[in-house]
Amino acid sequence: MPKIEIMPSILAADMGNLEAAVRQCEQAGADQIHLDIMDGVFVPNISMGPAVVEMVNRATELPLDVHLMLIRPQEHIEAFAKAGSDAIMIHIEADCNVEDTLQKIRDLGCKAGITVNPPTPIDSIFPALESGLVDEVLIMSVNPGFGGQRYIADAEEKVAEVRRRYPDLLISIDGGIDLETVTPAAAHGANLFVSGTSLFKAPDMKEAITSMRSAAEAAFNSAI
Ligand code: DX5
Ligand code: ZN
Repeated sequence: MPKIEIMPSILAADMGNLEAAVRQCEQAGADQIHLDIMDGVFVPNISMGPAVVEMVNRATELPLDVHLMLIRPQEHIEAFAKAGSDAIMIHIEADCNVEDTLQKIRDLGCKAGITVNPPTPIDSIFPALESGLVDEVLIMSVNPGFGGQRYIADAEEKVAEVRRRYPDLLISIDGGIDLETVTPAAAHGANLFVSGTSLFKAPDMKEAITSMRSAAEAAFNSAI
């Protein structure tokens, strides 16, 4: 059975003191760190590059889940793998050969992931899943580009559809995840939860992660 894990998104952290933010996530019991990489073309925002991933990697032993919101991810896989990524997600909507790019991610020793935006039908990722090259599916529950947006519940049906077909796959959900939305997301079969604003704004991140994990475990287990 897939393990429930909480991944703080450092997009919501104080970028001026990233090392302290990473340490805060570690001390709060985070399972992985999620990094949002944006190129200003695939999404309207620009965030961080491989140098920031490398810096975070130096600051923590936690696995790094790297979400590439890039129009041409294939040109940057190697740089992000060398920077210390453990898993690299590419978008199905990107301008690349998806299977070749997933293979390239695996060849560089990382877990390969595919992610899908809210308006994109879930069946668009089935050929990639059937290729056997996917370790993690990341379902977007906001339109990517910015933290702090409202959760789009339509993502839940996509999670459920993937979970029905692949009971053991890692399925993450990203966008607007908080102590309330984590429950329906887990009940539909998500096991990895990306959360930025809700965790970094919490008065006590440790308490927030512990509560989020318990709520997710209860909902995931009651649904199977
Ligand atoms: C959105 C990013 C998310 C974002 C989540 O483009 O992919 O990872 O940081 O942030 P919250 O939890 O604030 O919605
Ligand atoms: Zn993300």
